[in-house]
Amino acid sequence: MAGRYGPEICYNLPPKIMCGIVGYVGRAEAAPILLDGLRRLEYRGYDSAGVAIVNGKQIETRKCAGRIANLAKLMTEKPPSGQYGISHTRWATHGKVTDENAHPHFDQSGKIALVHNGVIENYAALREQLEREGGHQFTSDTDTEVLAHLIGSIYEQIDGADSKARLVNATRAALKQVIGTYGIALVHSDIKEFMIGARRGSPLVLGVGKDENFLASDVSAIVAHTRDAVYLNDFDIVAVSRDKFEISSVAGESGNYQISKVEFGAEDVSKGDFPHYMLKEIFEQPNSVRDAMRGRLNTEECTAKLGGLNMTAGELRDVSRVVLTGCGTALHAALVGEYLIEQLANIPVEVEYASEFRHRNTPMSGNTLVFAISQSGETADTLGALRESQRKGFRTLGICNNVASTIARESDGGVYMHAGPEIGVAATKSFTSQVTILALIGLLLGRMRHLSSSQGSRIIEALEALPEQIESVLKLSEQIRSIAKKYVEAEGMLFFGRQFNFPVALEGALKMKEITYLFAEGHPSAELKHGIIALVRPDLPSIFVAPDDAVFCKNRNNIEQVKARKGPIIVLTSGDGAKQLKGIANDIIEIPRAPEFATPVLTAIPLQLFAYHVAVELGCDVDKPRNLAKSVTVE
Ligand code: G6P
Repeated sequence: MAGRYGPEICYNLPPKIMCGIVGYVGRAEAAPILLDGLRRLEYRGYDSAGVAIVNGKQIETRKCAGRIANLAKLMTEKPPSGQYGISHTRWATHGKVTDENAHPHFDQSGKIALVHNGVIENYAALREQLEREGGHQFTSDTDTEVLAHLIGSIYEQIDGADSKARLVNATRAALKQVIGTYGIALVHSDIKEFMIGARRGSPLVLGVGKDENFLASDVSAIVAHTRDAVYLNDFDIVAVSRDKFEISSVAGESGNYQISKVEFGAEDVSKGDFPHYMLKEIFEQPNSVRDAMRGRLNTEECTAKLGGLNMTAGELRDVSRVVLTGCGTALHAALVGEYLIEQLANIPVEVEYASEFRHRNTPMSGNTLVFAISQSGETADTLGALRESQRKGFRTLGICNNVASTIARESDGGVYMHAGPEIGVAATKSFTSQVTILALIGLLLGRMRHLSSSQGSRIIEALEALPEQIESVLKLSEQIRSIAKKYVEAEGMLFFGRQFNFPVALEGALKMKEITYLFAEGHPSAELKHGIIALVRPDLPSIFVAPDDAVFCKNRNNIEQVKARKGPIIVLTSGDGAKQLKGIANDIIEIPRAPEFATPVLTAIPLQLFAYHVAVELGCDVDKPRNLAKSVTVE
């Protein structure tokens, strides 16, 4: 179906890629720049990797299955030389992880090397046509190789003295025939110091340097070299030389662009003194939560200021229903948001898995406000939900971290998290930033309704206290490490919580699954007696998120039920909770007391640390867990 966003995207092809792309043209040796860039993008996929660097009129290719470390080894054994080239790290959704399927792929002449992030849906028809009419032979069954052949075949057929313009025209003509999504970079061995990038549906950024230019799926890959970036739009084609670039559209119009300053620097994308990105990002939360609130609290009027929503006070007052949608951790933040907005603003809220929402016919009224929540701003399911919601005419706002990401750009407004780059695959600081922003939204909507100024003021006080309280939670890391050591032999874990902390139990279980591969489930505490209790046994720990709040006594009952069946119990509590649970729980983690609505920001952190320490004890690859990728741009 063709619509505002072009043909509907479906992703049921052979080898499929999410991936990261880096391209360089300049005066320096390309190899270390590309390799370093790929390392920074490894969170996007780590099934295979490759580079193509042009040396004189030769393309030197190195590619192999496995992590970037394998590629680095190959490049040390046989160093490629040259001052421009392209590179790729792959995350396969299905199809084999092999050296052959690793990018770059080549056209029939072997002179064009191409890397691609996305899916060419009509690749089979294009391939059949190339084989039939041009006798093309393919060495892989990837859709990417078909695109390389198509560009090469058109390039051979068209005239033009200027080979750069000819290659741009060939790329444009090929992309016009393509149905699907792409972020691409390509080089031609006969065309010196030149590369082409293009995007539709997959992110691509141009990094503008001094006598050198870059292409990347994400600015973190190039921020060590330049902080000037052009976030390309869908259907942009960029022709990149060492000292200039030109942007046009697939339709042939010259493109508008703006050079933006990247907010963060190379130090923000390094691990610093931390052994893992995940731990660094957990410890960044006092600042990331502060940054989520910075300039957004209006103490005078006891409300929040969220200008990016692009809504008038009247429009905000008319909102009668809120739908929150996202995937994974963002979905769990949305679930906290449901409690927050309903409690603070008294507006009915529904949380929808983005992947379900986009395919079902959710009845929605005229004044429904939809939020698409996504750290990366690129998650295909969340983007699909955003587009579906807009297609039906609903105002759809984004809560994103990545500036100029697709969701941020396509939404009707929104709130940036300003959390800085999150590189560890398991989301941590983005969760607490999302929850903080949802609290601000609840406060804003609440103050336009029944919430009094003194209630608003108390909410602001609680929010402002959070960064310091997080500091004291982080001091528990060593205690949590020793608890983790005790339970490292467990075959699985159960997580429980009520009300605001039920989603935190889900998030705690997700962290545990993602990075330790242990079986872990999160449930509302009260559901224990409706089935889950059958699982309780002496070697299966239960983790209860039970701060000293209105439902503490109810949680305590559930804790007693586990205790009676000899299940080991770890409790996260506050205030009087520790005293009351002494002798019942095996381990108690005490966090500072906070109003109920603010507790998820504090309770989530010990669970992040718990999963982290268990994973380290088990020797797992914390930052790059098996089978996962940070930004899932396929369905
Ligand atoms: C992937 C990641 C999760 C993340 C989810 C949503 O599945 O592995 O950690 O929560 O995507 O990501 P987003 O960027 O949309 O927040």
